[in-house]
Formats: sequence, C-alpha cells, structure tokens
Amino acid sequence: MTPRILVLNDPNLNLLGTREPEQYGRETLADLANSCADSARALGLDIEFRQTNHEGELIDWIHAARGRCAGIVINPGAWTHTSVAIRDALVASEVPVIEVHLSNVHKREPFRHISFVSSIAVGVICGLGSHGYRMALAHFGQMLAEQPA
Ligand code: DQA
Repeated sequence: MTPRILVLNDPNLNLLGTREPEQYGRETLADLANSCADSARALGLDIEFRQTNHEGELIDWIHAARGRCAGIVINPGAWTHTSVAIRDALVASEVPVIEVHLSNVHKREPFRHISFVSSIAVGVICGLGSHGYRMALAHFGQMLAEQPA
C-alpha cells in the first residue's frame, strides 16, 4: 500500500499569495497544494493536503492520522507559538512529524522563536518558502524507502 502523508496548514495560510507577500511569497495555497502533490507523486507517496482556521478541527485530523498516516508535515502557523493542545495531539498520534515554516521564524519577532512543536518533531525546516514542504516530503520518502518491508 502507498504510504500516506498528512500535510497540515494552519490558521491564515488560506490567505497565502496575498497575506504579507514579503514574508510568505506570492504562491497561493492552491499552488502549494499542487507542488506538494507533484513531489508526492514523484516520491511514491499519497498525500492529504489540508488547511484550517479552527484548532479543534486540526486536532481531530491529527487524532485520525494515528495508525493511518506514515508521517505528518505541519505548518502550525501562529499555533506553533501558543498551542500545547496541538503538541499533545501530535504526540498522541504516534506519527512522525516534520514542522515547516515558510519564513525564517528565528529572524522575526521573539515570540516566534518559541515553538511547542519543535521538540517533538523529527525535524524542523524554516525560511525556505514552499521548498521546505517538498524537502519534508522528500525526507519521509527516503525514510520510508529505508524501512524494512
Ligand atoms: C509561519 C510563521 C508563524 O510565525 C506565523 O504565525 C504564520 C506562518 C510561517 O510559515 O512562516 O502564520 O508558520
């Protein structure tokens, strides 16, 4: 069976392309979804690409990934810096997580230097724009290829 990766985009990322383009670029969420789908196809992965502005909905999606998804790529947006509930849900899912940010959060305001997710993630990629998502997918592709059948 083709391994499934859940790609989660959190609050305000529906506005990509028009929201602070100097920080987040001009690509829209649909562009990002298409480029992730192309990468996943090339890597032999199935992806579910989602975005929500509702924390509870996100937590339900993370719970549902348990036993069903081989990896989670998450851009938790502003919840990165605030949400213990999302961190706990990710831990409970027992699915390996890669945290991605379009911007380099460490070059920005001090409150963005704190992440509740990083210490439970396999890895963190930030500042590389949408390429970070494709790098995260490539990592999962490699990791799964190396796993014994
Ligand atoms: C972001 C960085 C966060 O600090 C911010 O709240 C976002 C986007 C990024 O992708 O760079 O919404 O996660």
